Formats: sequence, C-alpha cells, structure tokens
Amino acid sequence: MTGADLEDDSRGLLFLMYVHPEHWGHGLGHALMTACQDALLEDRFEAAVLWVLEENTRARAFYERHGWQADGARTVDDYGGAALPALRYQSRLVPA
Ligand SMILES: CC(C)(COP(=O)(O)OP(=O)(O)OC[C@H]1O[C@@H](n2cnc3c(N)ncnc32)[C@H](O)[C@@H]1OP(=O)(O)O)[C@@H](O)C(=O)NCCC(=O)NCCS
Repeated sequence: MTGADLEDDSRGLLFLMYVHPEHWGHGLGHALMTACQDALLEDRFEAAVLWVLEENTRARAFYERHGWQADGARTVDDYGGAALPALRYQSRLVPA
C-alpha cells in the first residue's frame, strides 16, 4: 500500500508490505516492492519513506537489499501496551 508521506508530501510512503509466511522466499516480496515503486513513480514521487520495527531484522534486510537505507529517524509507538521502536527508511525512486 502506498501514498504520500504525511510529514512531507513531496515524498511517497510505502505504508504496508506483508506476504503470508507460507509464501516467504519465493519472490512475492520482490514483486510487491517493484509494484509499489512503480505506483510511487506513477504518482510522480522521486523519493519515498517507510517505517519498520527496529527488531524486524528480516524486513530490514529485505528493504536494504532493495536499496532502502535508514535515515536516522526513530520513533517508539504503543502496540497494545508494548512500546516498540521503529526506524524510518528512505529510498530514491529510479525508473527501471
Ligand atoms: C519482508 C517480506 C515482505 C519479504 O517478502 P518475501 O516474499 O519473503 O520476499 P522475497 O521472496 O522477494 O525475497 C526474500 C528472499 O527470498 C529469496 N527468493 C527471492 N525470490 C526467490 C525465488 N523465486 N525462489 C526462491 N527464493 C527466492 C531470496 O533469498 C530473497 O532474498 P534477497 O532479497 O537477498 O534476494 C516478508 O518477509 C514479510 O511479509 N514479512 C512479514 C511482514 C513484515 O515484516 N513486513 C514489513 C513491515 S514494515
């Protein structure tokens, strides 16, 4: 799911990316990432951000392999009573 970043609407936002665990590791995440980047480019964004839980090392490695980098922003949100830190990642969007 994509849209505009609420903090800076010149940047796109990759809001959610979930693949069912039974289907991890078969290229679906890569296909979703390509589709999201294409959608953001179609919406004329040149850069985008996403937030990922700090402890989610699998997703962070996936994003880093797709050219996203942590930009230093960090927040702590409440997830049903658990305070979990999240990191902001950014990416320049380049047409394929
Ligand atoms: C992060 C996430 C979206 C990745 O999805 P995925 O479908 O497993 O991703 P892919 O299959 O495209 O890539 C993962 C690895 O699978 C392997 N892979 C990719 N295509 C493959 C294929 N056709 N056949 C076999 N293995 C393949 C590769 O090792 C790849 O690693 P690489 O990035 O070094 O190439 C998924 O793990 C997920 O939904 N996680 C839980 C939700 C989550 O944390 N979302 C992020 C919230 S911010």
